[in-house]
Amino acid sequence: MTEKLAWVEEELKALREAGLYNNIRTLGSPQGAWLVVDGKKVLNFCSNNYLGLANHPHMKETAKKAIDHFGVGPAAVRSIAGTMSIHLELERRLAEFKQVEGAISFQSGFNANLAVIPALMGRGDVIFSDELNHASIIDGCRLSRAKIVRYEHCNPNSLQGVIKQETDYRRRLIISDGVFSMDGDIAPMDKLADIADEHGIPLMTDDAHGEGVLGRGGRGIVDHFNLHGRVDIEVGTLSKAFGVMGGYVAGKREIVEWLRQQGRPFLFSSAATPADVAGCIAALDLLEESTALVDRLWENTRYFKAEMKKLGFDTGESETPITPVMLGEAPLAFQFSKKLFDEGLFAMALGYPTVPMGKARIRVMLSAMHNHDDLDQALGIFAKVGRELGVI
Ligand SMILES: Cc1ncc(COP(=O)(O)O)c(C=O)c1O
Repeated sequence: MTEKLAWVEEELKALREAGLYNNIRTLGSPQGAWLVVDGKKVLNFCSNNYLGLANHPHMKETAKKAIDHFGVGPAAVRSIAGTMSIHLELERRLAEFKQVEGAISFQSGFNANLAVIPALMGRGDVIFSDELNHASIIDGCRLSRAKIVRYEHCNPNSLQGVIKQETDYRRRLIISDGVFSMDGDIAPMDKLADIADEHGIPLMTDDAHGEGVLGRGGRGIVDHFNLHGRVDIEVGTLSKAFGVMGGYVAGKREIVEWLRQQGRPFLFSSAATPADVAGCIAALDLLEESTALVDRLWENTRYFKAEMKKLGFDTGESETPITPVMLGEAPLAFQFSKKLFDEGLFAMALGYPTVPMGKARIRVMLSAMHNHDDLDQALGIFAKVGRELGVI
């Protein structure tokens, strides 16, 4: 340890003492209903692999062919050394899938937010942001140097109120997650679109947890509310339901064109790999071919939530496959998660500051990859641990 970095050791120690140090587990298998975690075979209720595509044969085959054809890396920033045709194909397919004028892909969903918000907003501008928006939206807003005005979570009246208060601005933007990743609730996008139209403010949503989950065949939150053409900017991730890695911005033609000129992660970071891009195209093939995976995801979600309620668990206000099992204090949630793991089930505990104080929980992520036996086995484990710890 060097003297000048002693403070880092001290901060790490403080994290450990506060019980906030994150010990990251090691996976020894591909993503699936079952995983090998720290050498132990366990049921997986942790990942964002909503449709089970992360290890799907069609995805792997397509990615391998792309490696044969294009190699393993793009070796450049697209705007400097040219773009591979496969990236343009993905963008065309995404725009078709989302029924929008255009799309531009990025290396991750996080990068997509860091690209689009600062490219559209700057000093003198005002961003109206849901108070529970994702960290990548918050960081994108901060990078933009615009004034950030938070409104109450999923509350259109609060949004109206703050818009009326902010009279001094150059440009304005409203941003909301589509599905909120901690509670699984859905933004009232129809009401946000009405407010955006009333005031002439562009509306942006981050649909990371709605992609492949909500709407017809997983087309996302805009399709869920039938708001085609009324949400100006849709950010998406290809790292969750799509099972690969990447992000994109979809929407109006001029925004996509502007991002090709001004989106900093597009201009200053190399493109996604051919294998990733091909995997994403393969995910679109599967989503467009059949709704079977999305249907199974929802069947599993309905079944699991109903049975958990029958057992006496509080699963919060979730309207999506994200299922919080509310436990209250963080130590109980961490103990619960550890006992689940001992019984052969992997599901993470979340406590403050990730969620508000006193609202610690286990976050169960359902997926189309689970079969009925997996779900019943999980329910049995939850019941056992819940009774042991006096939760039910
Ligand atoms: C709402 C939201 N936006 C963006 C991201 C980042 O996506 P990616 O993993 O593709 O960077 C996440 C991932 O946790 C998310 O939940």
